[in-house]
Amino acid sequence: MKTIISGIQPTGNLHLGNYLGTLAKWNEYQTEYKCFFPIVDLHAITAGFINKETFKNNIYKSLAAYLATGLDPKKSIIFQQSNIAEHCELFWILSNIAQMGKLNRMTQFKSKSPENQQHAVLGLYAYPVLMAADIILYNADLVPVGEDQIQHIELTNDIIGSFNHHYQENILKNIQPLLQNSSKRIMSLRNGENKMSKSEESDMSRINLTDSKELIHKKILKAKTDLYYNLDQDLDKRPETQNLVNIFSSLTKESEIDIQKQYRSQGLKKFKQDLAEIIIEHITPIGKAMNEYYNDKNYLDNILSNGKSKASEYAERNLNNIKNIIGMI
Ligand code: TYM
Repeated sequence: MKTIISGIQPTGNLHLGNYLGTLAKWNEYQTEYKCFFPIVDLHAITAGFINKETFKNNIYKSLAAYLATGLDPKKSIIFQQSNIAEHCELFWILSNIAQMGKLNRMTQFKSKSPENQQHAVLGLYAYPVLMAADIILYNADLVPVGEDQIQHIELTNDIIGSFNHHYQENILKNIQPLLQNSSKRIMSLRNGENKMSKSEESDMSRINLTDSKELIHKKILKAKTDLYYNLDQDLDKRPETQNLVNIFSSLTKESEIDIQKQYRSQGLKKFKQDLAEIIIEHITPIGKAMNEYYNDKNYLDNILSNGKSKASEYAERNLNNIKNIIGMI
């Protein structure tokens, strides 16, 4: 059975980009693969430390989202990354393989670091190496992610290649990304050139999984589009409208061509109204379930504690293998 790992940073609201880009599919993987789904809080601190209560609650919120979208702690290993110390230990080992030249090319560091790079923290720069450690620690084969993470997957394979080459052993397996083709990159509702993201200032730029019906309606009707009346003209030059068609298609599984045909004579407004209804139909039950899980902290604590003991078995064994090869033990 192949192994899958994927995680989301607990930095507040999860959004439609996280959902369509990867999370929506995770529950399907559970029957086919051995699955590890960490809540990657060590990654979240690269955006800066926050208030203690909010930090803790963000972890509960992410866990609630994992469960609300169908993850089952009996089938998958769901855990908090910082509970497993081996992530940091392997990160350090891999830091001595990952080359600065390669890290300098990572676009996320450039886009997330402050204007004055002297103030950027080491953790943000080194973050792709921690992600490589997450993946290698559980001997994963496949990593379901959105397109923005592809560079990190490539870096991970690079590190794996260097390690195997040095020790002349194929101990570490190459990994492959699992992309959702139609929704690997969901864009902001305010600017079709930027991806939908938690860090964009305006909340109107994204649909959060916990948004109310009314808010989803408002965000979609106000989503930036263009001056065309029809959906089937020059869509490739209309990134905002293209993004909405893409979201429609990802949720309904209808092809973009069929959607364009369907709305040819009805215009953009009717399209947006229908899109809002479709999103509401998919997202609000998840938001409701998230709230229910979120309110049961004992249940959530239990899942984290069980996940910790299960994940730590694998992490300890795999890290020991690596340390053994290096000659540390
Ligand atoms: P994060 O928390 O930024 O995003 C979580 C997942 O959501 C996907 N995603 C999107 N997909 C499509 N369109 C979008 N607008 C969009 N925004 C986000 C991301 O690609 C990601 O799959 N480094 C990772 C977390 C991580 C991880 C790992 C993932 C840490 N360790 C090990 C896989 C395996 C991150 O910051 O994701």
